Amino acid sequence: MRVIIEKDALSVARIAARVVAQLVRARPQCVLGLATGSTPVATYQELIRMNREEGLSFARVTTFNLDEYVGLAPNHPQSYRAFMQRELFDHIDIPHEHTHVPDGRALDLEGSCERYEALIQQLGGIDLQVLGIGSDGHIAFNEPGSSLGSRTRLKSLTGETVRDNARFFGTEADVPKLAITMGVGTILESRKCLLLATGESKSRAIRDTIEGPITAQVTASALQLHRDVVVVLDEAAASRLDRRSYYAEVEQAQRAIEAGNSPS
Ligand code: PGA
Repeated sequence: MRVIIEKDALSVARIAARVVAQLVRARPQCVLGLATGSTPVATYQELIRMNREEGLSFARVTTFNLDEYVGLAPNHPQSYRAFMQRELFDHIDIPHEHTHVPDGRALDLEGSCERYEALIQQLGGIDLQVLGIGSDGHIAFNEPGSSLGSRTRLKSLTGETVRDNARFFGTEADVPKLAITMGVGTILESRKCLLLATGESKSRAIRDTIEGPITAQVTASALQLHRDVVVVLDEAAASRLDRRSYYAEVEQAQRAIEAGNSPS
């Protein structure tokens, strides 16, 4: 894992947007995996700015979102489809038909999950998957105990996740208790993963993900098995890591290599 620690959430967003933009410029027809939640919003704002001011075009990009609440119509303000329209898609030049979010209102949920997986495969797989992390260590809605080989499927949300997400709905009672989510296995098949975390409330989950054992109790820890993961953290999210200074040294050397200087 490449662990990048930045001073604040804004710098995290800039680095994350740069990783996405690099791929989009190198491979304009790439497949992006996208995430919802508060964390990636600043990254999306930076991508919108790059689209507007720097000619970063998404016209040939395809996207797949990680998850969606069951029972919410796409135009429900708290559906993840509506979130993506509001926070990103409506502001960039991506064709609507290139954007995919699981259908939380499908009558045949199981079939619809299988079709989602098949479509990802058909379009060549995900090149870069953007990920947030839950305070319980989940990636997408793969709650503690999810199989590390899991595929897109229905998942019950934990009380902790329902409480965390109640801020968007007003009350806990309004938060759907079921979601469709890509599986951990689906995520591990992405060619590259970009995990973002900001704030002290994520510090425990981040420590467990990076320095803890691989366990289904912290599904993000499965990323240790992936060969190309970039983790971008602010100081607060990184505050419980034991090896912070080592990650900083590695990062310094990495940047020197990228700038064409040999690290000393
Ligand atoms: P957040 O959610 O970005 O709103 O903190 C992350 C997640 O639950 O995956």
